[in-house]
Amino acid sequence: MQVVTVNASKKYDVKIGTGFVGNLGEEIAPLMSGKKVMLVSDDKVFSLYGERAVSSLEKSGYIVSIFTFPNGEDSKNINNYTNLVEALFDAQLTRKDLVIALGGGVVTDLAGFAAATFQRGVGIVMVPTTLLAAVDASVGGKNGINLTKGKNQIGTFYQPLEVLCDIETLWTLPGEEYINGCSEIIKYAMIVNDGLFELIRDKEVIDQYEEIITRCITIKRDYVEADEFDVGKRMMLNFGHTIGHAVEACSGYKIPHGRAVAIGMSAITKAAVVNGYCTEDTRMQLDELLEQYELLDELPFKAEDLMECVKVDKKNSSGMLRIVIPKAIGICTIKEIYKEECFKWIVLGGAR
Ligand SMILES: NC(=O)c1ccc[n+]([C@@H]2O[C@H](COP(=O)([O-])OP(=O)(O)OC[C@H]3O[C@@H](n4cnc5c(N)ncnc54)[C@H](O)[C@@H]3O)[C@@H](O)[C@H]2O)c1
Ligand SMILES: [Zn+2]
Repeated sequence: MQVVTVNASKKYDVKIGTGFVGNLGEEIAPLMSGKKVMLVSDDKVFSLYGERAVSSLEKSGYIVSIFTFPNGEDSKNINNYTNLVEALFDAQLTRKDLVIALGGGVVTDLAGFAAATFQRGVGIVMVPTTLLAAVDASVGGKNGINLTKGKNQIGTFYQPLEVLCDIETLWTLPGEEYINGCSEIIKYAMIVNDGLFELIRDKEVIDQYEEIITRCITIKRDYVEADEFDVGKRMMLNFGHTIGHAVEACSGYKIPHGRAVAIGMSAITKAAVVNGYCTEDTRMQLDELLEQYELLDELPFKAEDLMECVKVDKKNSSGMLRIVIPKAIGICTIKEIYKEECFKWIVLGGAR
């Protein structure tokens, strides 16, 4: 087992190992003084791991309530949020008690937001069951739900009490979800120069989960500690995301986040070569790695349409936009540009 400690507004451990789901009762005992637990999950994850989790919690004497919803991004909505906080109320959960999020990023985001806001904050433990949630969504305290008009438009920064990455759960992930998680891992490999790029190039992520997840969480931890509320350095974690978010939106969210970010990383790197920030060799190395993980795609939309979506990105302010530009493998830089300039980057990135 590996442990990464995050020292943000709350100090907490991220544990990476096996057997956490079957041992939840013992794992959470030191984190709470109450006896009630609300287990939040989606229908698919609950059918795979719910029984194991509930049985361990009950064996340790906890009173367990369960809140599940249909799997998929559409569930990250206000209705489910309302239903969940009402379920917390009905279960008479207090700040001594605990919410447990068992699932992918949709579950950790929705449960995280509910825990942050119910009674102005009850404790939450994240148990990520997708690779993407393990390396990204479950760590760092960001949570949120979608409006029909835009993704992640409501949310808070609220750190969990602990994160338990149970690698065993990743064995049931569908191939496409594995690939989505790999995209965020490639992102980390592009922004930090610590050999991660070579590690995942020379050996598949799936064959070295514990090592790779630990490295990614350590990278994210360092950015979160430096800039918990995402006003400066943490922006670096957005490599590939400005164009990626636009691709997601243009596709009506049919192209999943990880795949869209991969398209964004490849496009911004192509444009960075033309603009003299990095070499053709860097671009080729990135594209080869994306191809190795079945993530290499061209920009599938027109620059005008992508720009429409870039405009509504919530990170934009006062006509300026910050983009993350690669300089070499493991080295990126943040540049502030005018929105109009972004259009040129998207065209150079290969938009139709
Ligand atoms: N808060 C953050 O910092 C942050 C960071 C990145 C992404 N996110 C959010 O995370 C969400 C995406 O997360 P995701 O990719 O995990 O999607 P997800 O939660 O929808 O999970 C993807 C699919 O995999 C299934 N699944 C989950 N675990 C499984 C398992 N072990 N075995 C089999 N199937 C399993 C789910 O039921 C679902 O159908 C987005 O809403 C995104 O905005 C948040
Ligand atoms: Zn992302």
